[in-house]
Amino acid sequence: MAKARVAVLISGAGTNMAALLYAAKAADCPYELVLVGSNDPDAPGLKIAEAEGIATWGLLHKGMNRDAFDALVDAQLRAAGAEFVALAGYMRILSDEFVARWANRMINIHPSLLPLYKGLNTHQQAIEAGDKFGGCSVHVVTPGVDEGPVLAQTPVAILPDDTVETLARRVQFAEHQLYPATLAAFVARERSPDYLRDRVRELAMALPEADEVVSHGMPCFGIVKGKKFAYFTEDHHGDGKIALLVKISGGEEQAMLIELDEDRYYRPAYFGDGWVGIRLDLGDTDWDAIGEWLRKSWLAIAPKKLAGLMGVADEF
Ligand code: GAR
Repeated sequence: MAKARVAVLISGAGTNMAALLYAAKAADCPYELVLVGSNDPDAPGLKIAEAEGIATWGLLHKGMNRDAFDALVDAQLRAAGAEFVALAGYMRILSDEFVARWANRMINIHPSLLPLYKGLNTHQQAIEAGDKFGGCSVHVVTPGVDEGPVLAQTPVAILPDDTVETLARRVQFAEHQLYPATLAAFVARERSPDYLRDRVRELAMALPEADEVVSHGMPCFGIVKGKKFAYFTEDHHGDGKIALLVKISGGEEQAMLIELDEDRYYRPAYFGDGWVGIRLDLGDTDWDAIGEWLRKSWLAIAPKKLAGLMGVADEF
């Protein structure tokens, strides 16, 4: 399977970037680095990446407004064909627009056990608080600084005579182990059947009176004692696809969708014109759109009274 294309953004030494880079040399690593970018063209980490034959890009952000600078970074990431972004000591607050463009595709490493000690001076705060453990966290990037769902953490014991420097050094060892492993799991999960099934289940079951049963070996979702509105298929009849089947208006819509994006949409065997298959294993699934497909499919089969309730809820 093709490796996921990752860009790394740094501001300084780039030791975490180096850890990601060396881990990517393993044949079974599910990602490769396609660009290392920085808001400081003299960041030492850029030299490490260059020496390893990775494309680099650096530009001083001073004097530019945040949106304009982030738009330039975004253009570089896209030109490099990046699918994911790993922030590794990138000490710049990102514009909301940039964060939105990379929603669920950008992660960050932070030297504390989040939610403790966001921002700077994390080790000092942990020592002063008398904590038994410092550590590091990798999290998905959302608009707030050092917020967003935590994917993985490593606690690092604080010794009685630790200084900020001695603790920081051990946390760095932990970071270099944690980040490559977490990035690998993060890029792989978008292709993992268990993860994809769980995401579909969460969205489908949030709809009113939804329930789940197994039909023809597939998890499927319907309205309690009513019709089905979605099927999750995994290698159905050996077709090699992981996909969601939802109801549509008919053959015309089906043909239109397939023409629009024939890699993503398909006519599901044995289901006829009233359904469309949406591939979930392409690595770039828009989960808001999947939520909307499920909602529309639910509405198509919901009894009038129940569908009316959804309409009322929508108005608020
Ligand atoms: C790392 O310790 C990372 O956790 C931290 O910057 C350091 C970068 O070191 N990041 C943050 O504090 C983000 N809030 P590196 O350049 O050697 O990888």
